[in-house]
Amino acid sequence: MIATIEHVINNSIENDYSKSISIEHRKKFAQFFTPFPIADAMSKWILGNDQLKSVLEPAFGLGIFSRAILNHKKDVYIKGFEVDDTIFDNAKKHFENTENVNILLQDYMYNDWKNKYDGIICNPPYFKFHNYDNKNILKEIETNLKCKLNGFTNLYTLFLLKSIHQLSKNGRCAYIVPSEFLNSDYGKLVKKHLIKSKTLRHVIVIDFEENVFDDALTTASIILCANDNLTQRVKFSNIQSLQDLSKIDNIITNYPNLSDAKQVYDFSELNPEIKWKAYYQKQNSIKFKNLVPFSTYARVVRGIATGSNEFFTFSSSKAKEYNIDEQHLLPCICSAKDVKRAFFNLQDFEELKQNDKSVFLLNAQNSTDKNVNSYIRKGEGEEINKRFLTASRKPWYSLEKRPPSPIWVSVFNRNGLRFIRNEANISNLTSYHCVYLKESGLFSEIDVDLFFAYLLTDTAKLIFQDQAREYGNGLQKFEPNDLNKAMILNLNCLDNDSVKKILDFYKLYKQGINCIDEIDKILIKNFKMV
Ligand SMILES: C[S@@+](CC[C@H](N)C(=O)[O-])C[C@H]1O[C@@H](n2cnc3c(N)ncnc32)[C@H](O)[C@@H]1O
Repeated sequence: MIATIEHVINNSIENDYSKSISIEHRKKFAQFFTPFPIADAMSKWILGNDQLKSVLEPAFGLGIFSRAILNHKKDVYIKGFEVDDTIFDNAKKHFENTENVNILLQDYMYNDWKNKYDGIICNPPYFKFHNYDNKNILKEIETNLKCKLNGFTNLYTLFLLKSIHQLSKNGRCAYIVPSEFLNSDYGKLVKKHLIKSKTLRHVIVIDFEENVFDDALTTASIILCANDNLTQRVKFSNIQSLQDLSKIDNIITNYPNLSDAKQVYDFSELNPEIKWKAYYQKQNSIKFKNLVPFSTYARVVRGIATGSNEFFTFSSSKAKEYNIDEQHLLPCICSAKDVKRAFFNLQDFEELKQNDKSVFLLNAQNSTDKNVNSYIRKGEGEEINKRFLTASRKPWYSLEKRPPSPIWVSVFNRNGLRFIRNEANISNLTSYHCVYLKESGLFSEIDVDLFFAYLLTDTAKLIFQDQAREYGNGLQKFEPNDLNKAMILNLNCLDNDSVKKILDFYKLYKQGINCIDEIDKILIKNFKMV
């Protein structure tokens, strides 16, 4: 038993808990703990409200924020919410001698809507969900906040919206959340709300080399809000290391004044529809002239989603085992790592096939073949037909209609986007997106080789970078629409001589000579702003 819990100003309690509990349990409840120095910096924002009497910790865990606050100020009343009874029992024991902390074993999203607080501080759980599995929460939000949410979101944004609603006059709120919502479609509504409520004051993007949260693959941002009328401006800051946390101290001490006017925007200047990385990250596209949206030349669509790769994918030996003839199988790239080079041709496909890689999908629609039928019955025995995707298809084993695309692009990347020229003309699963060139339109038509040569360059990667979603540890993801909305150089502005030179280098590259740098040089000469 610990008598003075507020003096535990490190992560020892969280570390002991993590050692004693399985990772599965922690994942189930999204139990990733805030490093104490970050919790302490956030607590200073809350403590900056000189009328601070009541504090809410909506996702209590082991009360790291309560400890940080109590360490600086003892006479506050704190209420905490927690849904997991294991961590709740643990926290209760630690805080049993701290009378002004009241922890409730209740779901924050369904309780306490009527109460207001002078300070709300939180590292909320991150769970993606669609409206079909969490209709009730969305309804709760819609009724109380009078705003309509779209089908896909993440629980942490809903926690944030609710907390902003629960701020008393001059109340302050500090949240640490994945940066994802700043740059994703589901974040638009939250950003709209942050602007409309005029409560957003600071967005502090944490760009640490290492992950902030031990096991969660995510980058984080600290969102500071205040329900006062002291300013109309929002500042974006970037911090690269724990040492940089002193920047937050500065921001807090000087509030509402700003020590510098860099990355500061009026509410009227903030656009909820765009990726907010434009406000805190240097945009590479501004270094170039004559840019057009990628969608001018091509369209990106996600690869085939089967609903059960285990059931639908086939290697040669699996086809043999179930006596499935190749005429019922669709050649398909099933794993991103099976493609090693920028060109994928029929010979590469044959090689994968010989090596017994999964390179086929069951293509059973309209088949009367008895072996195919018995494989389908086997799938039904395993209830593959009742999965989310298969249940909505007719028949359940039909494949999405998606013709092979001439170019693939990798979804997850560590070193910039990877484009592949699909010379084998085969299909692909979701580890690659399909890139289809637009064939109509007077101005939009483009030679596939010229286009692909461009996609291989560092210049193209640099400009695409503006649209990437960061996942921490250098991992980046691109959704199809991130690419459709990305900018590319307008290759139609090139003169015939430059086009010819690019195509000549491209031919050499195909023969194994690494001369992409030369193509970059031509692009820089033609498009770089001076
Ligand atoms: C990301 S952890 C943060 C814990 C702690 N506040 C910290 O920062 O170290 C989120 C916590 O919220 C709890 N939780 C998950 N869903 C919840 C809900 N709907 N209502 C209240 N707590 C919830 C989890 O069990 C977990 O302890």
